[in-house]
Amino acid sequence: MAERTFSIVKPDAVRKGFTGAILAEIERAGFQIVAIKRQTISKAQAKGFYAVHAGKPFFDGLCDFISSGPLVLMVLEKENAIADLRKLMGATNPANAEDGTIRKKFAGSMSENAIHGSDAPETAAFEIGYWFAGYELI
Ligand code: RTP
Ligand code: MG
Repeated sequence: MAERTFSIVKPDAVRKGFTGAILAEIERAGFQIVAIKRQTISKAQAKGFYAVHAGKPFFDGLCDFISSGPLVLMVLEKENAIADLRKLMGATNPANAEDGTIRKKFAGSMSENAIHGSDAPETAAFEIGYWFAGYELI
């Protein structure tokens, strides 16, 4: 059965002009783009989104970065979407990302790593609902 996940083309990749190339990789891997929007988020919105990381040493820098410029928010669908997107993204630190992954190709560093993907069914449900209204997902 098709599964949905949530993804972001992060501000570093948008700034560098990689949006189209990253979307092409995602579609080539068999994902349907169910919903998509480009916007600049506030730091307060960022803190709510990354609440699971609150209190960690990198939390404030992460929220500053993700709210630093336009990003692209997406809901993606395919069988096994959550795990398959994580595989396509590659490791959090691009230095450890496998060849052919999006982070290997497009990420500059651990903090500016080009793409986000939900890590579990519960987080996917929370993240989709955080950024998209039900009527945007029909
Ligand atoms: P994401 O949530 O963005 O898809 O990345 P992820 O699952 O691979 O990594 P996660 O552990 O959820 O961390 C979220 C983002 O915080 C930054 N980070 N920095 N300095 C550090 O130790 C550290 N750990 C995480 C990364 O930019 C990561 O994407
Ligand atoms: Mg994560």
